[in-house]
Amino acid sequence: MAQYSILLRTVVVFMVTLATVFSRGNLVHAAPVLSPDLRPPMGWSSWSSLRGKINATSIKAQSLAMNKSLQKYGYEYINMDAGWYSGVDDYGRTTWDSKKFPDGIAPVAQYVHSLGQKFGIYLVPGIPAAAVAANSPIKGTRYRISDIVAPNLPGNTANDSSAAIDYTKPGAAAYVQSQADLFASWGVDYIKMDFVGPGGGRIAADNRADIEHWHQAILNTNRFMYLGLSNSLSFANAATWQRYSNGWRIDGDIECYSHCTGLTNFTVRVALRFADVPKWVPFAGPGHWNDLDSIEVGNGAADGLTPDERQTMLTLWSIESAPLLLGIDLTKLDPLGLELITNSEVIAVDQSGHPALPLSQATKQQVWFSNNQDGSYTVALFNLADITATVAVSWKDLGITGPVTARNLWTHTDLGRQPANYSASLGPHASQLLRIVEL
Ligand SMILES: *[C@@H]1O[C@H](CO)[C@@H](O)[C@H](O)[C@H]1NC(C)=O
Ligand SMILES: *[C@@H]1O[C@H](CO)[C@@H](O)[C@H](O)[C@H]1NC(C)=O
Ligand SMILES: *[C@@H]1O[C@H](CO)[C@@H](O)[C@H](O)[C@H]1NC(C)=O
Ligand SMILES: *[C@@H]1O[C@H](CO)[C@@H](O)[C@H](O)[C@H]1NC(C)=O
Ligand SMILES: *[C@@H]1O[C@H](CO)[C@@H](O)[C@H](O)[C@H]1NC(C)=O
Repeated sequence: MAQYSILLRTVVVFMVTLATVFSRGNLVHAAPVLSPDLRPPMGWSSWSSLRGKINATSIKAQSLAMNKSLQKYGYEYINMDAGWYSGVDDYGRTTWDSKKFPDGIAPVAQYVHSLGQKFGIYLVPGIPAAAVAANSPIKGTRYRISDIVAPNLPGNTANDSSAAIDYTKPGAAAYVQSQADLFASWGVDYIKMDFVGPGGGRIAADNRADIEHWHQAILNTNRFMYLGLSNSLSFANAATWQRYSNGWRIDGDIECYSHCTGLTNFTVRVALRFADVPKWVPFAGPGHWNDLDSIEVGNGAADGLTPDERQTMLTLWSIESAPLLLGIDLTKLDPLGLELITNSEVIAVDQSGHPALPLSQATKQQVWFSNNQDGSYTVALFNLADITATVAVSWKDLGITGPVTARNLWTHTDLGRQPANYSASLGPHASQLLRIVEL
């Protein structure tokens, strides 16, 4: 871990230096990556707990709650999801709902920044129906929306009346740039782009050109903005998502909606991630991560998870170095939930950036591990069954030949020197997270 951390820190310091230079306007169009921080992002996203009921007051309340209880552990993003916009401005750009944000978005971002946090926003690719209807002029050009619309193609995978952009047309890149510039002017630090295809959504759409243009447009703003893609991105295009974004949702939503009572449910929503993430692991790395969606831990019974399931959810996200974006209401933290989401040794596993793979998925008793390349290994034991079972591992199956010591990261306990085989009896959907050091 040490070697990787030093390398990562060097890269981060380098990027932060570049960022500083950029923000002074001395260097243009040369950023090799979008974000100065290459680690998985940590923070909060509004969708799970607030849905469309967001406004300036409720976003600030979440920001303040994060400042009080979570920020010192590394949580920093306040991400506003769907529900912030209504209609378009004079240039056909998505703009705020003035009932929810009477003074616009910039003062909200400013508030978030004043607490030492970063501000995120939500968008979908394509041209909003209102911009098509108004045939708005494209800022800084002599073109209008009708000059860049791809006829008869919807803008994205949502079933709405947006239009796709024809990037062979002059003015197309400028339109995307105008929206990116607007976000930059508000102080946006993170963009979640939803309904991106090929992937999930209600209809087929190919948004690869949109993402490539957004990537370039963000670079052109000279402001670092994390670009996160949603949802159920196609695996066939993993290399494209890796190249042009900082993270991509590998599955559909974690929220239960009408399928169960809590924010999420282990069987119906969380278990799927165990099956789907392994094939994506090779695409994760500094600056681009497999996104497993929001973490629904912190609101007690309202999470919809048992205490063991809450720990297991955090264990999987952490060993995968997935974004740690909380979906809960930060003003309603429960004591056990708070303890789980602020476990510094578990957070460190996530932030160290060594996504784990399962030894085998033949049964529901699974051992996942990553070699940290410094003589240490992260090992997670999962019982995904609905009844108590023993989960066992032989260190030699991880490629370790010598004796080892173990540390339980959830309980902060050194377990000492271990025999060749290790096993634990785990309740339904329970887990253990160990750090193994080869002696
Ligand atoms: C803002 O949202 C909160 C939470 O949904 C709600 O209670 C409040 O009434 C809203 N305030 C305004 C001004 O809309
Ligand atoms: C919380 O916000 C204040 C500004 O009001 C800032 O000085 C402080 O560093 C923030 N707390 C943390 C833990 O970052
Ligand atoms: C899209 O929406 C229209 C109108 O709401 C509806 O008639 C149509 O069935 C929907 N298509 C799909 C694929 O969901
Ligand atoms: C999750 O859903 C399953 C299947 O519907 C149900 O049996 C289980 O009780 C739910 N879990 C919780 C903690 O509510
Ligand atoms: C360790 O487990 C392996 C199977 O994984 C088994 O073959 C071996 O006998 C076990 N060794 C000991 C000392 O229990």
